[in-house]
Parts: sequence; structure tokens; C-alpha cells
Amino acid sequence: MNTLPTFDGDTPLVPANQLLKRGERLLEPDVYRIELQGRLAVVKDYRRYRGTPLSPVARLLVRHEAKVLRTLQGWKHAPALLGTLGGLALGMEFIPGDTLSAGVQGVTQEVFDQLQSALARLHAAGITHNDLHGTNVVISAGVPVLLDFTSALRAPRWMRNWPIIRQLRRSDMKNLVKMRQRLTGQRPSAEQAALLAEPGWVQAVRGTWKHLYRRIKGQQ
Ligand SMILES: Nc1ncnc2c1ncn2[C@@H]1O[C@H](COP(=O)(O)OP(=O)(O)OP(=O)(O)O)[C@@H](O)[C@H]1O
Ligand SMILES: [Mg+2]
Repeated sequence: MNTLPTFDGDTPLVPANQLLKRGERLLEPDVYRIELQGRLAVVKDYRRYRGTPLSPVARLLVRHEAKVLRTLQGWKHAPALLGTLGGLALGMEFIPGDTLSAGVQGVTQEVFDQLQSALARLHAAGITHNDLHGTNVVISAGVPVLLDFTSALRAPRWMRNWPIIRQLRRSDMKNLVKMRQRLTGQRPSAEQAALLAEPGWVQAVRGTWKHLYRRIKGQQ
């Protein structure tokens, strides 16, 4: 049986030589790879916030991402959750492969078709990713795996048709279509473009926000 290693209070966190991303901006974790009971694992580590006023927020982010990953346990398009440690670090399965970030070559239409159905499944489960871009997708042996569920939202069933939730699903799909166009040159079909077009209220909110933002900036 393919059992997962355990990640808990007894796990020594030795970042080895594998820093994947240094947390530089506010509430960004250090992300590194460790070896855990002979298997590779990834740790998202917010422990630099321990004892600071931001510690409760960091704990909330860890708990939230763990909860989403737990919901997706067993799904091939998300890493398996291994556990949390002291509330400020999250452990998950390491996914070998390349991210879909700029410069990656030879990503096929087929990979994007898989990604599109994966996203549709995620949405059907009531979850939006909300941060879908190249560095949050790893292609592992031809299978796209979604990473970084910090911003994901799981809407209860009764909320799933709310305009704001529909807009989040549309934004996820828009990001996917943009990545596909950038990496394979495939443009969205007319039907898809129409589906992804923003409704008037979104354009109005965006326009008002831009206007306000410029005025605020102008006063500084
Ligand atoms: N499970 C994983 N397997 C392989 N690589 C991973 C895994 N998790 C993260 N990575 C790598 O680490 C990078 C950073 O991870 P992640 O996107 O989760 O952190 P982040 O963007 O700093 O997070 P946040 O948005 O929560 O601040 C990813 O872009 C990816 O390259
Ligand atoms: Mg990320």
C-alpha cells in the first residue's frame, strides 16, 4: 500500500538544500523540500511569524490551506496533505516536475485539456482556486497538479450561484485561458470568450475601484 509519511510535532524540519521559494512579502511562507521517512515532502513554513501580531493570521492561512487539501485528498490534481506542525507549518507531498511558469517549452494542448477538466471538477466541488497562474501548476509526468490553495474558497452549496462566486470561477477559467494562449498559442473560441466576458457589474466595480485608487494615489 502507498502510505503517506506523517508530518507532525516530532518531524525535524531540516530545509536541506532545497529552498523552493523564500517568503519575502508579507505573510508569504518559506517553501522548502525536506526528506520525510524516505519520501520527499514540501513544507510551507510561516514560523518566522511566531510570537508576532501576525501569528494568528499565519495560523489561519495554514489551517485554511490544510482544510482545502484535506477535502481534495486522493485527487491526482492536488498534492496530498501530510499534516501541520505547531500550527505554523504545513507539510504536503512533493510533486516532481516543472511549473507552467514563463519559459517552459513543449506544453501540449492535451495537458491544458486535462487542466481544464480538473478546474471544472474543482468548481463542481464548490471550490475556486483564486490564484491560478504558472507557478502554481506543476506538470508531473504529463499530469497537471494544482498547488497553492491559500487563496482558495469553498463556497457552501447555497452560495454557489451567487454572482461573486460565479465571478471567481470565471476568473479561474480566464487565468487558465491566458496561460494556454501564452504557452500554446491557442486562442479562446468565440463561445469561450463570450462565457468569460465580464458582466456589467464587474466592469463597473473595477472601473470605480480604479478611479478611486488613482484619486487616492494622486493625493499622496
Ligand atoms: N507540493 C509541491 N510540490 C512541488 N513543488 C512545490 C509544491 N508546493 C510548492 N512548490 C513550489 O514552491 C513554490 C511556492 O509554493 P506556493 O505557491 O505554495 O507558495 P507561495 O506562492 O509563496 O504561497 P502563498 O500564495 O501561500 O503565499 C511553487 O511555485 C512551486 O514551485
Ligand atoms: Mg504560489
